Amino acid sequence: MWKTGISNIKPDDIVTRGYRQEDLIGAVPFASVFFLLLKSRMPDKKEAKMIDALITSSIDHGVTPPSTHAARIVASAGVPLPSAVAAGMLAVGDVHGGAIEDGAKVLQEWVKSMLENDWSLEETATRMLAQLQKEKKRMPGFGHRIHKRDPRTKRLFGLAQELGFEKEHVRLSLAVEKEFAKKKTLPINVDGAIAAIISDMSFDWRLGKAFFVMGRVAGMIAHVYEEMTTQKPMRRMCVQETEYDGPWER
Ligand SMILES: CC(C)(COP(=O)(O)OP(=O)(O)OC[C@H]1O[C@@H](n2cnc3c(N)ncnc32)[C@H](O)[C@@H]1OP(=O)(O)O)[C@@H](O)C(=O)NCCC(=O)NCCS
Repeated sequence: MWKTGISNIKPDDIVTRGYRQEDLIGAVPFASVFFLLLKSRMPDKKEAKMIDALITSSIDHGVTPPSTHAARIVASAGVPLPSAVAAGMLAVGDVHGGAIEDGAKVLQEWVKSMLENDWSLEETATRMLAQLQKEKKRMPGFGHRIHKRDPRTKRLFGLAQELGFEKEHVRLSLAVEKEFAKKKTLPINVDGAIAAIISDMSFDWRLGKAFFVMGRVAGMIAHVYEEMTTQKPMRRMCVQETEYDGPWER
């Protein structure tokens, strides 16, 4: 027997988390139905606004990220749209998109320790960074190749404050940013902001990458479609852009 608590499907009848799908269609926004799937309850107004904002914040980052390169290059080889989008999704990894999951895990563990030991935010941030340094690890969700101040982080944290989701995890990530600033500027990137907010919304850290994927799949579809309809097939590096540094003819 294959048990599932998500949807009950019978002939002419589709019920998702207790709601008929025909009642959801046109009545409940997409992001709220996503929340319903994950939490098995409807979001309240504030949660609905926050979840929609989180998905939108991951929607696209131009042609710069590795996943978009992968999707467009694969699309240019003449494969169907879903294959090219899937190729892009395969490039989501620890340093691209994946930092939400790792960041949420680290924040959730340290907030737990902070509350158990009655440490201040500052003390927790200092301990956290010392531990990461000892383990020669980077803090997921911090730093960016292009942005010195990620504009998405500012907006997301502003909304989190307005909607009541600025709690221990958001506060701890801000304390970590301050602690980093004593030595170098390492801004909280969009992944770090999402990690902190979903933690303050009581999501399991294992869902971290889901928020990135939900948004970015839309951006990736736009890129794949643009590649298919406006570019010459078979995008590749031309010889002048490559340098051979292996052995010469022998
Ligand atoms: C995103 C990222 C790859 C950008 O890297 P970059 O700007 O090219 O920076 P570099 O990898 O050259 O690192 C520069 C310095 O900052 C440090 N640094 C960068 N990100 C760091 C982080 N998240 N935690 C701790 N130190 C960090 C590096 O150790 C390095 O220190 P050093 O000069 O003493 O050796 C990097 O910041 C990172 O790995 N972040 C964590 C993963 C992440 O959040 N990814 C999501 C991106 S949206």
